[in-house]
Amino acid sequence: MKTGLQRQEENMKFLKSVPLLKSLPSEKLSKLADVLDLDFYHEGDYIIREGSTGDAFFIINQGEVKVTQKISGFEEPQEVRKLKRGDYFGEKALLSEDRRTANVIALAPGVECLTLDRNSFNALIGNLNELKEKDYGDVARGAQRSSTGTPTDG
Ligand code: CMP
Repeated sequence: MKTGLQRQEENMKFLKSVPLLKSLPSEKLSKLADVLDLDFYHEGDYIIREGSTGDAFFIINQGEVKVTQKISGFEEPQEVRKLKRGDYFGEKALLSEDRRTANVIALAPGVECLTLDRNSFNALIGNLNELKEKDYGDVARGAQRSSTGTPTDG
């Protein structure tokens, strides 16, 4: 079994390799490594549901996810992207305190995510310009904003 210290060191090493976090000083990275949780999702699990509220931010540590979204003219949500190790998601609802803008679904053989709650997100990385300026082109693609939804992710 791994000790807390080993886990912290592994998290640090991985965080240093995440492109989003490259401008963070090691002091902040170390705080981040302290507060991150590790969660596992099985193939097909909805990590995030479009239209729900949510309080977590995710960085993929292992595996891949598929992002799907309601697009006008289509009955079923459409796949807009796949994300892999080192990619992140779930920042939109935290930055705007609004609803989730897409579904995020775990692909085989499962996904391991480092997760951050809203408070830690705000304190440690919510100010990064890359997050604030991120534009997925949702409007141009005809993505529909849901005004109603299930109460929380899951
Ligand atoms: P959030 O809206 O909180 O929850 C769904 C997440 O999916 C969203 O944050 C983004 O991180 C991500 N997302 C939304 N649209 C796209 C897209 N077009 N491509 C990749 N990721 C997206």
